Amino acid sequence: MPDLERIGVVGCGLMGSGIAEVAARNGLDVIVHEPEQPALDAGRERVRSSLDRAVARGKLSQADADSVLARIRFSTDLDLFADRTFVIEAIVENEAAKVELFGRLDKVVESTDAILASNTSSIPIMKVAMATPRPDHVVGVHFFNPVPVLPLVELVPSLLTSDATEQRARTLVVETLGKSVIRSQDRAGFIVNSLLVPYILAAIRMLDSGFASAEDIDTGMVLGCAHPMGPLHLADLIGLDTIKAIAEAMYDEFKEPLYSPAPFLLRMVDAGLLGRKTGRGFFDYAER
Ligand code: CAA
Repeated sequence: MPDLERIGVVGCGLMGSGIAEVAARNGLDVIVHEPEQPALDAGRERVRSSLDRAVARGKLSQADADSVLARIRFSTDLDLFADRTFVIEAIVENEAAKVELFGRLDKVVESTDAILASNTSSIPIMKVAMATPRPDHVVGVHFFNPVPVLPLVELVPSLLTSDATEQRARTLVVETLGKSVIRSQDRAGFIVNSLLVPYILAAIRMLDSGFASAEDIDTGMVLGCAHPMGPLHLADLIGLDTIKAIAEAMYDEFKEPLYSPAPFLLRMVDAGLLGRKTGRGFFDYAER
């Protein structure tokens, strides 16, 4: 493996910006891509405010924060990924979009030894691996939000991922990025979302049925089970469109009713009430 991987992150939303920040904070050279300038600017702002928060809390000096930001190139040009050795896809949770991107990445990334990884929360890795002629170099590396805070990464080899690829991804994630790894089989939802998403969907159904208020559902899990946040605040943090996409991918795979997206969730998404990122989900964030 190269001494230091040259990282490419495709997508600079909540997850992509967090992954880019963590990679740069650990000394890696990072390029992050968004096709449109406004989304790229918003991603840069997200990284900057996360670094500002670390500076304010005395975790990072201002000079270090500046050099972390300087290690990240923000670009709308995917061709810059030609020299990357490790690319992490973190675009919208949509199978067709990811399949199309992996086909493009295969053509853009020159080194045949480069790893093409996906941060998908739920789509089987085999689906994107087969969009390339190098499925042995494709692997899932699934981070958790907020990426700079949560220590977990799910490592998901597909049936065709080589042992060398899996080992190199593990080395990057554990030794370079300082995260803890759990290994999941390549099944929609992997380990964490297979448990978490039915729980969030149950909370949404509970709210929809009038069983309890949103505040009481969340307070129940925070004070009664010591969760850092309740399921509805967590859904707002993840994004309701993402929860819907994950639920659909898992329902598609297993046909289990407990994975089917609740109608209330579907209406919230139809209404554009996607959680924190739009200022309103199950709770209101407009004034924060
Ligand atoms: N970016 C960077 N750092 C952040 C942050 C952010 N967005 N939000 C909080 N932090 C940091 C703070 O700086 C602080 O760091 P230090 O302790 O080092 O000073 C620490 O996190 C705690 O923050 P706060 O005191 O401000 O707030 P809090 O104690 O309420 O914690 C939280 C906020 C970290 C979000 C916490 O509520 C939490 O862990 N919630 C659960 C999040 C969770 O379950 N995420 C997984 C979602 S599932 C997923 O991501 C996968 C998927 O596929 C859907």
